[in-house]
Amino acid sequence: MNPIASAEARAYAPAYVKNTRLIEWVGQIAALTAAKAIHWCDGSDAEYNQLCQQLVDAGTFKKLNPARRPNSFLACSDPSDVARVEDRTFICSRNQDDAGPTNNWMAPAEMRALLQTGERALFKGCMQGRTLYVIPFSMGPLGSPISHLGVELSDSAYVAVNMKLMTRMGRPVVDLLGTDGRFVPCVHSVGAPLQPGQRDVPWPCNAEKKYIVHYPETQEIWSYGSGYGGNALLGKKCLALRIASTMGRDQGWLAEHMLILGVTTPARRKYHVAAAFPSACGKTNFAMLIPPAAMGGWTVTTIGDDIAWIKPGSDGRLYAINPEAGYFGVAPGTNFETNPNCMRSLEHDVIFTNVALTDDGDVWWEGMGPAPQHAIDWQGRDWTPAIAQETGAKAAHPNSRFTVAATNNPALDPAWDDASGVPIDAFIFGGRRSTTVPLVTEARNWMEGIYMGATLGSETTAAAVGQQGVVRRDPFAMLPFCGYNMGDYFQHWLDMESRLASQGATLPRIFCVNWFRKGADGQFVWPGYGENARVLKWMIERIEGKAAGENHLFGISPRYDDLDWGGLDFSRERYASITCADPASWQAELKLHDELFKLLAARLPASLKNARQAMEAGLAG
Ligand code: OXD
Ligand code: MN
Repeated sequence: MNPIASAEARAYAPAYVKNTRLIEWVGQIAALTAAKAIHWCDGSDAEYNQLCQQLVDAGTFKKLNPARRPNSFLACSDPSDVARVEDRTFICSRNQDDAGPTNNWMAPAEMRALLQTGERALFKGCMQGRTLYVIPFSMGPLGSPISHLGVELSDSAYVAVNMKLMTRMGRPVVDLLGTDGRFVPCVHSVGAPLQPGQRDVPWPCNAEKKYIVHYPETQEIWSYGSGYGGNALLGKKCLALRIASTMGRDQGWLAEHMLILGVTTPARRKYHVAAAFPSACGKTNFAMLIPPAAMGGWTVTTIGDDIAWIKPGSDGRLYAINPEAGYFGVAPGTNFETNPNCMRSLEHDVIFTNVALTDDGDVWWEGMGPAPQHAIDWQGRDWTPAIAQETGAKAAHPNSRFTVAATNNPALDPAWDDASGVPIDAFIFGGRRSTTVPLVTEARNWMEGIYMGATLGSETTAAAVGQQGVVRRDPFAMLPFCGYNMGDYFQHWLDMESRLASQGATLPRIFCVNWFRKGADGQFVWPGYGENARVLKWMIERIEGKAAGENHLFGISPRYDDLDWGGLDFSRERYASITCADPASWQAELKLHDELFKLLAARLPASLKNARQAMEAGLAG
């Protein structure tokens, strides 16, 4: 079949598509990439089922046993394509300083030559032999003034079905676009053109070349070479964080790597909390947690598990929506004890990626429960507990994932799809730190809270390619996701204080947490998961003016007796070991803050430098 010429693209568009710019752009990309066909996704269940079957026929999907996991599938990726590629991710702003020192940068014209216009541009002919899927999507509730529309053109049916679960996708978005509605154009290719007669592989990708590219000024996304997660599902990290953060900077709102949860007290008062944790540090678990029964009548409901768009309302409060409509969560470690709501969400209609296949046609991952006697691991090899013991082989990749619609979650908050969002009462910043950082600290003021967010550190995880377990600064958990200069981003957060205070509103409280301190035996000391509700309760009672705490150099923390210990045997000594702030470790920690501040020096707000000096003086005094 011949590639489609630009002018022929109209013929592929369904009659309901009226947006001329969209039709022309699809034609241009089809011609550039030499796609062999165009499929306009309508987002229907029938289409989803048909594409899943197509993926089964192509060997990309295995259908799981319908008696155990109805309407669910397993995909196993190429071993070279298993996580976000931060070193291949670029912010191509006109001015390098606007991308800042924490982002990879290339001049837009240079990048365009490499991807689109140069003689050997990567996108030229890259969809040869493949179908181009037109995937219209809304980040945020359909028609909400807070939402933004995007259209992803991808040569991956796997991407199309994942986007159906992760976003509001299909014809209703095209209808909203009308004749001249605006959308963020997102172009994605796995970078594996097929020569005539060449057989496809189950997971096409480009092992040598990957580019995840953002042009903030023109609000465009171009992704090449990977089919995995945030590299390929372009509504998520690329649009809802990197591009949206620049929109937020320009328009006075925040796009954050935060879960959003609702918490209802026994007195039936409802609060909303947004919490930033780096990737694979338990956002999904925290967003779905079930408080221990012994705490009596506290409930938590989920609004979002990964991303929050937060805008000042006319009353001066901050209102948050979850721009996504599904969860792309980390599988290993998820089980009925750590996250029962998540396990229930995964009972049907799920796409699993890179977990193990059991002999009865179901899935398994490390930390799910008792190991099967035998399974096929994520690379298609035999796996048994004995093999694991001998070779250390993992049945599931440490960054293996599930994709599931939010509506599967039994703890879904009734307001999760509310176009006006939910008012935020508190922000939480948390990292994975085996030492130094106490269980919980409340900032005494906005500035102190921004300092906590800005200097957040965390041990790296398998969510991104690279060395794991090393502490890196991950300001606001946004290091890989902020689409502009991190110094300007800090200033943007600092400016929110006066913007909100001028409307007479009470600002959200800010807390910093660390669930991950380890003892001398190398084991986690704090039980975490549902028990984190004890910390959440203290925070809410601080907001209500009911809970006490102790002032120290970095803020206010609960003493042992300030927490509810009902139903949990956790000694004072153990508590002391995860709350102590030892001066020598903090001297070392401040040196790490200095390294970050030095990197960001050109645009670092002076107030953060001053706060750093005040801490040093406090430690010395
Ligand atoms: C994610 C991530 O997939 O942060 O959410 O890596
Ligand atoms: Mn994330």
